[in-house]
Amino acid sequence: MTLQEAIVARHSVRQYIDKPIEASVVERLNEEIAVCNQEGDLHIQLIINEPKAFNGSSAFTYGKFSGVSNYLAMAGPKGADEAIGYYGERLVLLAQTLGLNTCWVGLTFKKQPDRYTIDNGDKLHCVIALGYGVNQGVQHPMRPMEKFIKVKGSMPDWFRRGMEAALLAPTAVNQQKFEIALIDEHAVTARNRFTLIGYGKVDLGIVKYHFEVAAGMENFVWK
Ligand SMILES: Cc1cc2nc3c(=O)[nH]c(=O)nc-3n(C[C@H](O)[C@H](O)[C@H](O)COP(=O)(O)O)c2cc1C
Repeated sequence: MTLQEAIVARHSVRQYIDKPIEASVVERLNEEIAVCNQEGDLHIQLIINEPKAFNGSSAFTYGKFSGVSNYLAMAGPKGADEAIGYYGERLVLLAQTLGLNTCWVGLTFKKQPDRYTIDNGDKLHCVIALGYGVNQGVQHPMRPMEKFIKVKGSMPDWFRRGMEAALLAPTAVNQQKFEIALIDEHAVTARNRFTLIGYGKVDLGIVKYHFEVAAGMENFVWK
C-alpha cells in the first residue's frame, strides 16, 4: 500500500481486536518516530500494552473506544501544535501501510503519566490509538471542495490532487476548518479558520501532510 492509497483507506477506528502489534511493525514505527522527533523537535513515544488510557467509562459519548492497548503519546513543546499534526499524520499513514488502524484522540482518553516522559516545556498534546481494528472504519462526510479553496484561474492537476487528499484528512470532530489557496503558479498557503473546539493547528498540520503527499513537493512551495 502506498501513502496515497493509505490516505484513501484510512478512517478513524475505535474498536480493536486483542492482537499484539507484530514486532517488526513496532520496530518500523519506532524508526519513523525517531526521524519525526528529530525533524520536528518533538518527543512522540509509542506506548504498547497499556490498556488503562482507554479503559472504563468515558464522560463523553463522542468516541466510544474498545480494545485499545497501544497508542502514540504525542508529546512536544507547547505551541508545537502544527508539527504534532504533521508528524502524527505521517505516522498514521505509515501505520495504515503496515496494516494497522488508528484514531487521533484529543479528549476521550485518560492520561497515564507514568507511562511516558513529558520534558520541561513540553506537554501531551493528544494521543493516537493504534492496533488491528475490528473493522476499517467509514468515510467521513465531506463538504464540497469549493468551500476550502481559493484559486484564481484554472486549477493545476497537482493542486486538485492535493485538495482531494486534504479533504480526506482527519480533523477534530470532522470540523475541517481550513482554507487552502493557490497564490501563484507554484505557491500555496494553508491556514486554519477560527474554531471553538480547538485543535485548529493540529488539524492544519495533518491537512498539510496529506496535501504534500498527494500534490508532490516537487510541484509547489508553502508560502
Ligand atoms: C486533533 C484530533 C482530535 C480528535 N479527538 C478525538 C476524540 O477525542 N475522540 C474521538 O473519538 N475521535 C477524535 N478524533 C477523530 C475525529 O473525530 C475524526 O478524525 C473525524 O470525525 C473524521 O473522521 P475520520 O478520521 O474517520 O476521517 C480526533 C481527530 C483529530 C484530528
